[in-house]
Amino acid sequence: MNSNIKALDTGFVLRADKIEKHFANIEVLRGISLEAKRGDVISLIGASGSGKSTFLRCLNFLEIPTGGTVTIRGETHQASDALSRSRASKQKLRQLRREVGMVFQSFNLWPHMTAAENVMEGPVRVLKEPPKAARSRALDLLARVGLSERADYRPSQLSGGQQQRVAIARALAMNPDVLLFDEPTSALDPELVGEVLAVMTDLAKEGRTMLIVTHEIAFARDVSSKMIFLRKGLVEEEGPPRDLIASPKSEELQRFLARMRH
Ligand SMILES: Nc1ncnc2c1ncn2[C@@H]1O[C@H](COP(=O)(O)OP(=O)(O)O)[C@@H](O)[C@H]1O
Ligand SMILES: [Mg+2]
Repeated sequence: MNSNIKALDTGFVLRADKIEKHFANIEVLRGISLEAKRGDVISLIGASGSGKSTFLRCLNFLEIPTGGTVTIRGETHQASDALSRSRASKQKLRQLRREVGMVFQSFNLWPHMTAAENVMEGPVRVLKEPPKAARSRALDLLARVGLSERADYRPSQLSGGQQQRVAIARALAMNPDVLLFDEPTSALDPELVGEVLAVMTDLAKEGRTMLIVTHEIAFARDVSSKMIFLRKGLVEEEGPPRDLIASPKSEELQRFLARMRH
């Protein structure tokens, strides 16, 4: 049987298998595997430099893994696809990036575009949606993240929390199968963190499949179905978030959590 069909049968939206990443002679990821079923919310925690961002970036091939595969919707992607210049490979890569949405710590909005224009840009340019329909959908998405009143504001006229909610609406506009969040609240003033976490909690309740790198341990505990602790490019410990937090087995996780509590 074709391995692609197998992946569909197991019911996983996303599967990462033994992802490795080396930069020159530095081994940043040393074989990380993970499976997400539809509606799973997986939180990734770990010290700075443990490879969390690199791992997320490998999942949509923003960073080309040195080894391993990413399977999404039954399609398996590996480094050789991304490095090939064939039309089919490029098409496959575009498809992967469309299926895996990403929200960055630093929002990455276009400064010269309004909130609505930022949200419509992908649908119009990549999905070839007519601008009028795309704008109407953008306004709906902005309403969903509580920003109906801000559709025609530019990023510089918005708070960090508002900008991040625009970035979430922008990711949703592409109808991704999986949403990746890389420390979405780390760049925010403390009083703005809650509004972004509230939007993410709503998305989780809607059954969105999400992977979240975060230092907000209480949020991760409440929202995620599974927690993974990364250390030096490997999964050190994983399981139900409450178990990991209440009774961490590895000394490293115990130390990490103790540091987070201060
Ligand atoms: N483009 C790169 N070139 C060289 N080293 C990198 C690159 N990107 C990340 N690294 C290294 O990989 C390690 C993991 O980084 P990162 O994935 O950003 O960790 P985290 O997000 O957990 O803080 C760090 O040691 C970092 O310096
Ligand atoms: Mg990071």
